[in-house]
Amino acid sequence: MDDIHGKSLVMYFILFLCLVSLAGCDKYRIGVGIGDITGPAADINMMGYAKPGQDTHGIHLRLFSRTAIIEDLSGNRVCFVSSDIAMISQLLKLEVVKVLEQKYKGVYTINNVMLTSTHTHSGPAGFLQYILYIISSQGFIEQNFNAIRDGCRIRLLCFLQRDRYDYNTDKNMTVLKLTDSNGRGLGAISWFAVHATSMNNTNKLISGDNKGYASQLFEQDMNGGSLHGKGPFVALFPQSNEGDVSPNINGPFCLDTGLPCDAITSTCGGRNENCVASGPGSDMFESTKIIGYRQYAKAKELYNGADTQLSGKVQYIHQTINMSDVTIQFPDNTTGKTCAAAMGYSFAAGTTDGPGAFDFRQGDTSTSPFWNLVRNLIRTPSKQIIECQTPKPILFPTGEMKFPYLWEPSVLPTQIFRIGGLLIIAVPAEFTTMSGRRLRDAVKVAFDKHVPNSDVDVVIAGLANAYSSYVTTFEEYQIQRYEGASTLFGPYTLDAYIQQYSRLATSLAKGVSVDPGPAEPNLLSQQICLKPGVIYDGAPFGKRFGDVLADANDRYSPGDRVKVTFVSANPRNDVRAESTFLAIERLNATSSNWTLIATDANWETSRSHFTYNKPYKESYSSGRSIGSDILGTVRI
Ligand SMILES: *[C@@H]1O[C@H](CO)[C@@H](O)[C@H](O)[C@H]1NC(C)=O
Ligand SMILES: *[C@@H]1O[C@H](CO)[C@@H](O)[C@H](O)[C@H]1NC(C)=O
Ligand SMILES: *[C@@H]1O[C@H](CO)[C@@H](O)[C@H](O)[C@H]1NC(C)=O
Ligand SMILES: *[C@@H]1O[C@H](CO)[C@@H](O)[C@H](O)[C@H]1NC(C)=O
Ligand SMILES: *[C@@H]1O[C@H](CO)[C@@H](O)[C@H](O)[C@H]1NC(C)=O
Ligand SMILES: *[C@@H]1O[C@H](CO)[C@@H](O)[C@H](O)[C@H]1NC(C)=O
Repeated sequence: MDDIHGKSLVMYFILFLCLVSLAGCDKYRIGVGIGDITGPAADINMMGYAKPGQDTHGIHLRLFSRTAIIEDLSGNRVCFVSSDIAMISQLLKLEVVKVLEQKYKGVYTINNVMLTSTHTHSGPAGFLQYILYIISSQGFIEQNFNAIRDGCRIRLLCFLQRDRYDYNTDKNMTVLKLTDSNGRGLGAISWFAVHATSMNNTNKLISGDNKGYASQLFEQDMNGGSLHGKGPFVALFPQSNEGDVSPNINGPFCLDTGLPCDAITSTCGGRNENCVASGPGSDMFESTKIIGYRQYAKAKELYNGADTQLSGKVQYIHQTINMSDVTIQFPDNTTGKTCAAAMGYSFAAGTTDGPGAFDFRQGDTSTSPFWNLVRNLIRTPSKQIIECQTPKPILFPTGEMKFPYLWEPSVLPTQIFRIGGLLIIAVPAEFTTMSGRRLRDAVKVAFDKHVPNSDVDVVIAGLANAYSSYVTTFEEYQIQRYEGASTLFGPYTLDAYIQQYSRLATSLAKGVSVDPGPAEPNLLSQQICLKPGVIYDGAPFGKRFGDVLADANDRYSPGDRVKVTFVSANPRNDVRAESTFLAIERLNATSSNWTLIATDANWETSRSHFTYNKPYKESYSSGRSIGSDILGTVRI
């Protein structure tokens, strides 16, 4: 149903309900939606590990944008989006809001739309506008940017009156349950802080990683036989303060010796490449499945047991801030200042989820002449930035690098949504666990102080609206591991955010508006792309596109793998949004026709034989690699 046309009718209906039942009158209108944002499935570097050569080479799980829209009786509306991508780019937010403005005049603005990301490291790159984040993809990949922007379209599957919002908090997963007035489930938003890096930097199949799989499981559970990404129930698994939280729970070991890595520097024999964390499965597919399953299972448990009904206003507040120019007033009357952005040495060392190259070590507070030389070819840091960022040894003074255009953001968006007793803080970075805790506590104190008996719950929506690397506490910053080295605006970055969000929470609580802040740069017209498109595409000699090279067997037993090879064109010619490169159909013996039962979005159409706890039906599966065996139909 179209949300605009349905509006007046639904509003009258809600008012009517309120007149007859005077108590528990709080009602909301809810819409949920889902859109395909998979992007180019071949040849594009993946976003996250920044590893040269880790280019898309097929599909494990399709990527989706999932949306929940919530409106109160006065018509205050917020739109929360969770996308299966590594982070939200500032440009993406600006352009998505533009598209929404064209379509739904005046309904969606930069202030009431919150774009967040699951932080999967297995999606195509090239959709950010700042240089540092598009180096490994050889620039801006317009095809991918457009695929993500268009999938973020708000496609409402339903828009009815809703009256219950339930949530529960347990083991730090917060679940917002969305139901209609009969208690029928429409969707769920489950915040939980953990990196989506179960798939490691050797993976080349596009994947939503553990959170994408959790969404798929929850949606399959609620939607029965619907094709994946097409059912009415939508399960969002947005990211939170995951900065220092790894899903690879067996911990880091040396690939060569099998021994644990050096605990402080995360190296093996002085080098970082071989120090890799993994687990709990025996390979990355199994690990993704286990970590995804655990999130789904906990979310479902909380969803079923949800006992606190949300009531009260929907509100939102948004303000941009120049993060390289913040003065922090501490309670003891001292002050601190943020700095122009800079990346420290340990940034290049990577983490044990995806080690960097060269001889960088985590926890590095000294500099090397060789890397200083390389860096000086690009830009010598000013005395001011060196002092301000102490003790960070500066590898790239990105805030002072403006050639050919900006390397890092300095104007960043800050935003809070309120849905009754729940506050959602959108942070444009990866906050560590401790940073997140301090931020949540400060926001709660600021809000509760001005709204008596409010006792709000606060969740952090991480990697939201823009991306600016990491945020650590002042203490974590002193150690200069990867996260501290990637905390852009100096030792007081977190304190600046705490001050900013506390002020926003105070304004929200008092119901006063704030000035919008400095304009966010839109660098779309300046983007450079050095990545060539599809130059030549043709079938091998004597073959045509669509030719079957290796057909299916006549017969399979349960658990067998079906492998079929076709001649196909380069998948970059068409991202096949909302469609598939591979169809699995089942013969209906009664009507003797074929029904589509799975697509390339399904887990089963990838390589894994693992079953977790509850037996998982895998009567069909198909191994895939790019170039030859896609664009086909497998009939079983
Ligand atoms: C999880 O929640 C508990 C109880 O609210 C709290 O004590 C703990 O610090 C939280 N853990 C994290 C990682 O935020
Ligand atoms: C990635 O995972 C695979 C198992 O799926 C393992 O063989 C490989 O060593 C891992 N590599 C890295 C760099 O993590
Ligand atoms: C942000 O602050 C820095 C440092 O004061 C300043 O150089 C820069 O021009 C400011 N940017 C904007 C957009 O105001
Ligand atoms: C900070 O300054 C204010 C106003 O000057 C004063 O009232 C307060 O006592 C000072 N606080 C501390 C901890 O010095
Ligand atoms: C098979 O076809 C019959 C007749 O059209 C239909 O009633 C039945 O629902 C179909 N079964 C499946 C599993 O689609
Ligand atoms: C299969 O049969 C059903 C019921 O007879 C019909 O609705 C459906 O369109 C048919 N599907 C195809 C692919 O022919």
